[in-house]
Amino acid sequence: MESPFKAEVLKGKVALITGGGSGIGFEISTQFGKHGASIAIMGRRKQVLDLAVSALHSQGIQAVGFEGDVRKQEDAKGVVESTFKHFGRLDILANAAAGNFLVSAEDLSPNGFRTVMDIDSVGTFTMCHEALKYLKKGGPGRSSSGGGTILNISATLHYTASWYQIHVSAAKAAVDATTRNLALEWGTDYDIRVNGIAPGPISDTPGMSKLAPEEINSRSKDYMPLYKLGEKWDIAMSALYLASDAGKFINGTILIVDGGLWLSRPRH
Ligand code: HXC
Repeated sequence: MESPFKAEVLKGKVALITGGGSGIGFEISTQFGKHGASIAIMGRRKQVLDLAVSALHSQGIQAVGFEGDVRKQEDAKGVVESTFKHFGRLDILANAAAGNFLVSAEDLSPNGFRTVMDIDSVGTFTMCHEALKYLKKGGPGRSSSGGGTILNISATLHYTASWYQIHVSAAKAAVDATTRNLALEWGTDYDIRVNGIAPGPISDTPGMSKLAPEEINSRSKDYMPLYKLGEKWDIAMSALYLASDAGKFINGTILIVDGGLWLSRPRH
């Protein structure tokens, strides 16, 4: 689908996207690139990164991939530094890396719980922490007038409760709390806008393929009248809105992009 945004809304900007090699992260990378940004993607799997970078290059997008695990502080620091060295600045950090699997609370080991907290929540904070130096107003490569921006991808499952997703719900709740607290502290001190996006179910993503989509699709409509699948494009357009100047007065918001699904109630 054609973008409603002008092609140059992110011209001259440099974006680092964690988990940018696949799923929602890759679509954000593509759309940011198509709208003028230079793209660094971070991921654990070299093969996935290489494929993603070639796909971006083939669309005329300036892109580079850096291997790293958001759970390791030295990787986070290294990738942020490499991005700055490669492109000379950093304007946008999008935290899209996440981990997920379906398991009952009874069968989930504390280490399984911790693993997802480490990837989603601690990983998001670690990336923000390491990127701060480059994103703050007056930081390397930027003027004293404006800071960069951060986008954290969460979910809606923690608004209520979700079967077999206790670890992800807890992790995404922490991501949303991190978004709001950084928006307060870094918005005030450094002119950095920090916002989140909470996607509903999005087709053709690793998340959906792990959550048994056929079963969800066929049964959900009965008790969730607003149930429909979004597209990765929907999330990327929201990301563009928040990251570009269109969103210049938006700070600390978590934009729900789920077609209204979380409001669903059975019809009486
Ligand atoms: C129960 C599991 C499990 C499973 C792992 N564990 N998979 N427990 N059921 N299916 C437990 C392990 O037993 C272990 O605990 C602990 O978790 C760590 O497992 P590892 O395999 O060592 O972890 P690792 O290799 O680091 O892999 C992390 C991962 C993996 C999260 C388990 O799936 C991953 O890397 N995924 C990244 C890609 C991904 O999932 N993307 C989808 C994101 S979608 P013990 O106690 O045995 O040591 C998304 C959408 C959310 O986030 C919102 C949806 C609406």
